[in-house]
Amino acid sequence: MKAMLPGSATDTDKPVVLGEVPEPEPAADEAVVAVEAYSVNRGETFQLDGGLDRRWAGWRPGKDVAGTVMQAAADGTGPTAGTRVVAHPPAYGWAERVTVPTASLAELPENVDAVTAAALPLAGITALRLLRAAGPLAGRRVLLTGASGGVGHYLTELATASGADLTAVTATAERGARLLQLGATELVTSVEEAAGPYQVVFESVGGASLPAALAQLAPGGQLVWFGQASREPVTLDFFDFFKGSNQAHITHFDYTTSDATYGQDLAALVRLVATGRLHPEIGTVRDWAHTADVIADLRGRAIRGNAVLTIS
Ligand SMILES: NC(=O)c1ccc[n+]([C@@H]2O[C@H](COP(=O)([O-])OP(=O)(O)OC[C@H]3O[C@@H](n4cnc5c(N)ncnc54)[C@H](OP(=O)(O)O)[C@@H]3O)[C@@H](O)[C@H]2O)c1
Repeated sequence: MKAMLPGSATDTDKPVVLGEVPEPEPAADEAVVAVEAYSVNRGETFQLDGGLDRRWAGWRPGKDVAGTVMQAAADGTGPTAGTRVVAHPPAYGWAERVTVPTASLAELPENVDAVTAAALPLAGITALRLLRAAGPLAGRRVLLTGASGGVGHYLTELATASGADLTAVTATAERGARLLQLGATELVTSVEEAAGPYQVVFESVGGASLPAALAQLAPGGQLVWFGQASREPVTLDFFDFFKGSNQAHITHFDYTTSDATYGQDLAALVRLVATGRLHPEIGTVRDWAHTADVIADLRGRAIRGNAVLTIS
């Protein structure tokens, strides 16, 4: 079958190449899914260029897929062949077929198409779990950096639906326009422009962004640190905390769980979409032959929300 293989880590024109690989061999608790659409996440671009030490021999990219079960799991768990599903395998999903543990997939109702569903897994599960990490947000002031990306759109809609008064930080007003429609109270184009104090900050840009966002925190507030999109490490000065964010809590966040099961959160996201309470922002949909171009656009901050590729 055909699959996207890791290309050159240094040649930005060839982060992936289309190639032939053997058919997947499912374990007893895995279904084989015929992939119709997949999405690309920033973290996967880090894996492709070697920036994240999360590759192993034979690794291929692909964590977010939607399609149809071709072969049900041998252990009798999960949906039967022919069922439309969205899934979050650990890898290998940018391919015609992929094996997925049945604990990491959810069935799709008729009104959720494969393109919409493929945009859900990593970004949507992260947003759900960030909300849990932050605790109740009703009536609380929240600052979100890197808001124009995949996670940022989901987090904005879910946090504001639960009562947060959210300020979103994006590079330009155009990149943030949809966030206002999804419930953000205010849009700013730099952290310094935001009018703190905030009780909660969600930070995923790194570099100068984290200290600037921390300075906007109310005393005793919480900064949830979930990424470093800029790839620039953070420097903190103990004495800066006395300028306002004294006694701040910084929570390091990782969406993965030790049992690596995602089916329940995927089902929740599908339910929210199917009932019109969650609106994936899909900045681009292209044929999978253009995966390398989409990766370049994502790296260049030219995509709003999620990027989805379809398998023709
Ligand atoms: N901890 C976890 O478990 C977890 C899970 C999922 C994702 N993440 C991380 O969370 C972050 C957001 O993920 P995502 O999938 O939403 O990514 P994304 O779609 O690429 O969004 C990231 C956003 O960061 C902003 N940004 C600001 N400065 C940037 C810079 N120098 N380079 C690149 N982007 C910059 C961009 O918005 P503007 O152009 O508008 O500034 C961009 O839209 C990423 O760092 C990702 O690795 C972490």
